[in-house]
Amino acid sequence: MPYQQFLADARSQSSWIVDIRRQLHRFPEVMYEEMKTSQLVRDTLDELGISYQSGIAETGVVATLGTGESPCVALRADMDALPIHEETDVPFRSEVDGKMHACGHDCHTAMLLGAAKLLRECESELPGTVRFLFQPAEEGGAGGKRMRDEGVLENPNVERIFGLHVWPPLPTGTIGSRTGTFLAAAGELKITIHGKGGHAAKPHYCVDPVVASAKVITELQTIISRNLDPLDSGVVSITAIHGGEAYNVIPETVQLSGTIRALTMERLQWLQDRVRSLTTQVAAANECEATVDFPGNAYPPTVNDGGVWDSVQEFAGELLGRDAVHEVPPVMGGEDFAFYTEQVPGCFVALGIRNEEAGCTHNVHHPLFKVDEDALPIGSALHACFAVQALRDLSDA
Ligand code: NI
Repeated sequence: MPYQQFLADARSQSSWIVDIRRQLHRFPEVMYEEMKTSQLVRDTLDELGISYQSGIAETGVVATLGTGESPCVALRADMDALPIHEETDVPFRSEVDGKMHACGHDCHTAMLLGAAKLLRECESELPGTVRFLFQPAEEGGAGGKRMRDEGVLENPNVERIFGLHVWPPLPTGTIGSRTGTFLAAAGELKITIHGKGGHAAKPHYCVDPVVASAKVITELQTIISRNLDPLDSGVVSITAIHGGEAYNVIPETVQLSGTIRALTMERLQWLQDRVRSLTTQVAAANECEATVDFPGNAYPPTVNDGGVWDSVQEFAGELLGRDAVHEVPPVMGGEDFAFYTEQVPGCFVALGIRNEEAGCTHNVHHPLFKVDEDALPIGSALHACFAVQALRDLSDA
């Protein structure tokens, strides 16, 4: 199983991978609604003669190749799209209004199926088990946590896990990652400011939650600039404000929402405590009451195992060229891959997809986001190499 052969085979099967990606791209499905996506994954696995379990975490699929015994390694792809209306001009653009694969999870799913095809062809030579995790709801639904809680890392126990993410800052043909914390701990924030509504001409009979909200938003900016150690990292962003309907009515309440990020769970918790205390006190100073919630599951930071990343750098340098493998700084984006690496050593790798000539320059979560599809066979080959190299490392250990 020479790694160059994986890359050559993936490139010769590139149209197969691209075709799956485009089918997924045309019919994006958001968190826990990945029915057609899951069906396409299962149909493709059937076509390849690979066994799987489905209905995990609702729409998740787990396929298996190899001996069925230890050592066991896992490769993961996320399947969900975003509630964004696509504005690109690609011929396979989204056919669902208001939904788009704007984070490249269509590519992740197609690349992992490509890797399954490569590894199926040399299954008898695998020195252990490879598990393929197709998971739902990465975008805010903590699908990775549900997959983990439903036991996908057990029987036999997964000892290494890998994930790829398309990465617009890096050019096609390159990859990046780092030792330690790569992506942030991230959580959602919801605030309601309760006042007393009434006629806007008689503000003295009201308690105005609009003015109080403005002050809360402004004061929240001081948490990062005044309370956080300047050498530490954090984000507090208010991204939505809803309140009031009429020009002459002071509303009863105003709702704010946003996100909080940090590089450790402890720091995230500290930021949440500070947001709660500052918000309730600023509201109280304005005779309002505030309720502060952090709904859903906060994502832990995505922390890469240094030894696993070293091993990836070694073979990827030979496969793609030494200059094509980058140590990149951490970013404040969140990833539910973190729920797996809380339990198992692994590595999350950024796959370059930037191609200025092809117009692939926009960042993820943008309505004009486009992927250079030449990166897809590279991703499939890398996944196959991750699995084989990790099985070899574990067998040698
Ligand atoms: Ni993503």
